[in-house]
Amino acid sequence: KDIGFLGVPFAAGQSRGGVEHGPAALRDAGIVQKLGYMGFNVHDYGDLKFDHIFHDPPDIVKNPRSVGQGAYQVSEAVKDIISAGHCGLTIGGDHSLSIGTVHGHCQAEENVCLIWVDAHADINTPLTSATGNVHGMCLSFVVHELQEYIPDIVDFDWIQPCISAKDIAYIGLRDLDPGERHIIEKLGISCYTTHEIDHFGIEYVLKKSIEAVNPNMDRPMHLSYDIDSLDPAISPSTGTPVPGGLTIREGMYIAEELAQTGLLHHIDLVEVNPLIGTKRDQNLTIFTASEIIQACFGKRRRGNVDPNYKLP
Ligand code: ARG
Ligand code: MN
Ligand code: MN
Ligand code: MN
Repeated sequence: KDIGFLGVPFAAGQSRGGVEHGPAALRDAGIVQKLGYMGFNVHDYGDLKFDHIFHDPPDIVKNPRSVGQGAYQVSEAVKDIISAGHCGLTIGGDHSLSIGTVHGHCQAEENVCLIWVDAHADINTPLTSATGNVHGMCLSFVVHELQEYIPDIVDFDWIQPCISAKDIAYIGLRDLDPGERHIIEKLGISCYTTHEIDHFGIEYVLKKSIEAVNPNMDRPMHLSYDIDSLDPAISPSTGTPVPGGLTIREGMYIAEELAQTGLLHHIDLVEVNPLIGTKRDQNLTIFTASEIIQACFGKRRRGNVDPNYKLP
């Protein structure tokens, strides 16, 4: 499969500036070339351009028009990428863009399941959110079972819920709001927090997570990878860091194993904020993100076999 690469310089789903520079930072770090060296044909769809919306007063969420219209653009772009037969790779930007990636993916093909690697569940409804930031609510808009709890919001009316609770598997969570814990229990969403990773180990947790959403290994998978799932020691430049995160080895293991399934059809890498922290923090976070992305596309720590290699 070829890769359809899309930058989403989007920040209106949260309150800190800088996360819109994530795509440029990863491009500057050579991510497109690196994927090319791995042998992929990379179709570069560029970075989306968002109109600045001058009048966007809060509704029940912050920046409703910016987020609603922005996520619509993302959805249309991802729909095109998946329809073209590519494996989508979306670099954020804040996690609210995943309203668009999940939605667009589900428009282009059926039976999508979702692996959500994050410190957060991002499943607040606009009414359970304590912050009003849409990056903490993105899943609630696309999950069928929650629609009766979602109020009308300006420029969110295009969203068609497209995912069921049984199609979602969480890995790495450790900062849940009370409403989110309630929703996860009530809907029975597969959820392995860092506590379960400590208890069972990452190998068991990942195996169970895949089994939960894709027992017959016959469904296309969408991986939404929030860089804040990883420990702030290796990804400090992010807007909502939470201590006690995944180690780089756990993070790499998830990416490598999912790549080996051959079923990943779209990957989001979100919440890299290249303006947070020191220069060292920024470079480290970008390096970590770049390694995770390559691992998602098959780069292995054991080394990859090059069929054309000739021993000198
Ligand atoms: N749960 C908090 C909220 O609703 C934090 C969400 C953080 N989300 C993220 N994608 N980093 O605002
Ligand atoms: Mn192609
Ligand atoms: Mn997060
Ligand atoms: Mn997130």
